[in-house]
Amino acid sequence: MSTKNDVLSVLERERDRYFSGQELAETLKVSRTAVWKAVKGLEEEGHKIMAINNKGYKLEIGSDILSEEGVRVHLLQKYKNNPITVLSVTDSTNTQAKRLAMDKVPHGTIILAEEQTAGRGRYGKSFYSPRGVGLYMSLILKPNIGMSEPQMITVATAVAVCRAIEKLTDKKPQIKWVNDIYLDGKKICGILTEAVTDFESGCIESIVVGVGVDCTISEGLIPEEFRGIIGSLGIGEISRNRLAAEIAVGILESFEILGSREIIDEYRKRSLMYGREIRYNLGNEWQNARVTGISDTGGLIVLIDSGEEKILNSGEVIISSKAKY
Ligand code: BTN
Repeated sequence: MSTKNDVLSVLERERDRYFSGQELAETLKVSRTAVWKAVKGLEEEGHKIMAINNKGYKLEIGSDILSEEGVRVHLLQKYKNNPITVLSVTDSTNTQAKRLAMDKVPHGTIILAEEQTAGRGRYGKSFYSPRGVGLYMSLILKPNIGMSEPQMITVATAVAVCRAIEKLTDKKPQIKWVNDIYLDGKKICGILTEAVTDFESGCIESIVVGVGVDCTISEGLIPEEFRGIIGSLGIGEISRNRLAAEIAVGILESFEILGSREIIDEYRKRSLMYGREIRYNLGNEWQNARVTGISDTGGLIVLIDSGEEKILNSGEVIISSKAKY
């Protein structure tokens, strides 16, 4: 690693205190001139660094540039060596992850981008991904042979995103079945889980799980058709690097206990679906129903007009008791 990256790691790890040039030089076993040059290099890359006489260096609160170092310092020890790629711009981190997955990259590879030009959502919809105001992240997961419920990865990811937000902020997000996270009646996060299948064996070789969080998107930046529907998490002093690491760790931890009671129970508790009148899409038809529960495999249990109970395992759902969703 370069001195520049090392300095960034130290500053990212403890963003709330100053490090003197001397301390950085001693910690990193380099000269003070090397530290000074590294700081200048970081500033040229856009990092905002406070430099105060007799105190030293510190990242400014609003300095929120995604970086490998910034994510890595917040990962649990057991994930510290996971490959991380940070792109300035890409078409879609999920598409990029699928390309990488073909090259047999390891389980737990993380891909992030400052901006996506062709961000994707479910059902072929696009995911609006403007520069610098969101978290656009994909993880490559290698399932065990015979994994039967890839939907549970979406379930576990939704729980991981809510946990991360609650750990780092005072917000209380909720889950809209199956893959959206809502805050104060607006969508702030979408999840897109995709499988990469081995052409010859037909087996699922990798799962790519993509998470898109609107972090600091201002109302004016939201396209008109999404106003009132898309919200913003508002992460305040929390960096997107920290949020990315927290979510990634949550997904990786949950992956190890996928299908456990703990995850589905928490998903149920965090769901905003219970008792809601909904419209769901079955093929080309929209039907009315009322939500009565969530199955052990993450399906939506609904009561249809005829009084019959059904479990929806896929399909689009609109909440009609509050038309906004
Ligand atoms: C949805 O709202 O239906 C899901 C949206 C998922 C968006 C994320 S952003 C990172 C990753 N890359 C993509 O192109 N999509 C996912």
